[in-house]
Amino acid sequence: MCGIFAYINCNVSRERRHILEVLFNGLRRLEYRGYDSAGISIDADGDGGLTDLRGLAMPGFCPLVFREEGKIEKLVTSVYKEVNETDLDLDYSFMNHAGIAHTRWATHGPPSPRNGHPQSSGKGNEFLVVHNGIITNFMVLKETLLRHGFEFESDTDTEVIPKLAKFVHDSLMEENKAANGNGGKDIQFSQVVMEVMRQIEGAYALIFKSPHYPNELVACKCGSPLLLGVKEVGEAENRGVFAETELRLAKEGGKPKEFYFASDASAVVEHTKKVMVIEDNEVVHFRNGAVQIYKFEVGKARTASGGLPRPASIERALSILEMEVEQIKKGNYDHYMQKEIHEQPDSLTTTMRGRLIRGGGDKVKGVLLGGLKDHLKTIRRSRRILFIGCGTSYHAGLATRALVEELSGVPVTMELASDLLDRQGPIYREDTAFFVSQSGETADTLQALEYAKACGALCVGVTNTVGSAIARGTHCGVHINAGCEIGVASTKAYTSQIAAMTMMALALGEDTLSSRNRREAIIDDLFNLPNMVEEVLKLDSDMKVLAQELMDEQSLLVFGRGYNYATALEGALKVKEVALMHSEGILAGEMKHGPLALVDETLPIIVIATRDATCSKQQSVIQQLQARKGRLIVICSKGDANVMCPNGGCRVIEVPQLQDCLQPIINIVPFQLLAYHLTVLRGFNVDQPRNLAKSVTTS
Ligand code: F6R
Repeated sequence: MCGIFAYINCNVSRERRHILEVLFNGLRRLEYRGYDSAGISIDADGDGGLTDLRGLAMPGFCPLVFREEGKIEKLVTSVYKEVNETDLDLDYSFMNHAGIAHTRWATHGPPSPRNGHPQSSGKGNEFLVVHNGIITNFMVLKETLLRHGFEFESDTDTEVIPKLAKFVHDSLMEENKAANGNGGKDIQFSQVVMEVMRQIEGAYALIFKSPHYPNELVACKCGSPLLLGVKEVGEAENRGVFAETELRLAKEGGKPKEFYFASDASAVVEHTKKVMVIEDNEVVHFRNGAVQIYKFEVGKARTASGGLPRPASIERALSILEMEVEQIKKGNYDHYMQKEIHEQPDSLTTTMRGRLIRGGGDKVKGVLLGGLKDHLKTIRRSRRILFIGCGTSYHAGLATRALVEELSGVPVTMELASDLLDRQGPIYREDTAFFVSQSGETADTLQALEYAKACGALCVGVTNTVGSAIARGTHCGVHINAGCEIGVASTKAYTSQIAAMTMMALALGEDTLSSRNRREAIIDDLFNLPNMVEEVLKLDSDMKVLAQELMDEQSLLVFGRGYNYATALEGALKVKEVALMHSEGILAGEMKHGPLALVDETLPIIVIATRDATCSKQQSVIQQLQARKGRLIVICSKGDANVMCPNGGCRVIEVPQLQDCLQPIINIVPFQLLAYHLTVLRGFNVDQPRNLAKSVTTS
């Protein structure tokens, strides 16, 4: 949901062309977070004719703003066109420069250049802001600012922020001038931002730029993700964690450095692996080549003299990203979704690496989940387990619910995060709540986490993003290690979530002797899982043929039950979200209670009927659908075609057979391939489906 990015070069000469390319590339990496419109701000050479409150000419750093509706490449084309038309020198070098950039997923106001970011304080772009999140009290602020003579140009909630910054800045300068007669020299950029933070409500990650503070940037956050990357020019990367004091080495005349702010690591990793995850209510002020970090104290009042309390700057350590640049590239694939589907044998291997114990000698076959081992007893004693998530992550919970219940003996309740919040459903101290989220930053899941924590439950995170809000906010957790997922439709994260939660179920059951054979059989199949996924991926061309047959259909039904009810929901979601074809996942047990009315000779229906305890019931579902001349596609275990479709008349897709609880990992793959091929054939954008974004950071 919107990506923000900034690039600062400090004491190192960089041409305008280079600065533009770094900003554009940052946006390309973040485009999956939103692709309705995009914008950047860089400096012009020469002054912009602005004067400050003392009537003095402002230094020669007039920010230029470019905004364009649509994809990043449209912005790139229009920026270069404008640069050519205005004779802006692409070779012009800046020793110090601070540029900001934004890619938008529209929340307030339709996609259009005026609703794109950076949003501006008005004439002269005295304050510019890029924002990821939502300002909930923007209407009130807008009314106040309108009363003070500000004119609004956009429909966004964000526009109040730069205008508020200008209002705060001008007021503080006046006050300071009146009090000290020093023309307000003392007012620092970070103070202005902290005063803005005091007045805005909602979720945000913000980066501010202003010609009042040439070459400075201030970034802050509350709820939405933001990180800072640091690159010492000429220095070998990756030499280990080092202290924040080193951040300050880049004083004027000091070492050349480059700094990057970004919504996530994928935009930074190609430049540097040294990062600092910015925490809520932290304000990061980049100035004179040094980085100062302040902890903003919520609700702290201004001092009696009207000045702002200036918190002391704090120390933070940098950490090293465990991400490789290759992860964020498409390689030989046409699309990220395709790459991520085919990557699953590897991503599953990584999910399980070091966590499965094969047994033998004095070792007992089992699993080892470091992040959970100290909490297993408490979880086993819970009165109830809750699986909380949204979309695909919810489905992953649903796919493992039965196994967790079977092995732990604790009842598991499924909760869509938004619904739990809407109902304010009861959660107790004796409950354990699992928060399943690929991104670790989904707003509803995050809010549900705050809610469950307030209710006193033990909160466990199951995420794919180290350092994400959910990973940090939970008491303990499991990292699924699927690697960076860029396609908006979740594929490899889903299968890794199921694998991770299966291991979690095994760990919960390891104190029960009676389930030992069952657990060992599952562990054997987990070892086998990547090979089996490799096997099922061979259906690629069959699924392409099926996609050719189905590409002009309006609708598709998917029937599943037991472990594969989740597969039906997830398979239908994949087709719906990328191929833009209506599809509905249905619990087969509900077929006769309504959906059967839809069945005719034309509507395609996929029935999942792989071997498990519910298989004979699926057999009779198939018969009943055939009796009504249903157009059936049956997914069954290898060798079961004749058993499942004894009379022929339906298309059969055979998949490898594993333990029932692992079958959802195998069974989802044909759906992922089908959704992918349908999308390509129907001519839609695979990686960036209409209206969607990867991380839903607004409720
Ligand atoms: C569908 C999809 C979404 C996400 C959902 C939750 O392919 O990706 O349904 O699963 O928005 O996102 P996370 O897992 O990041 O919390």
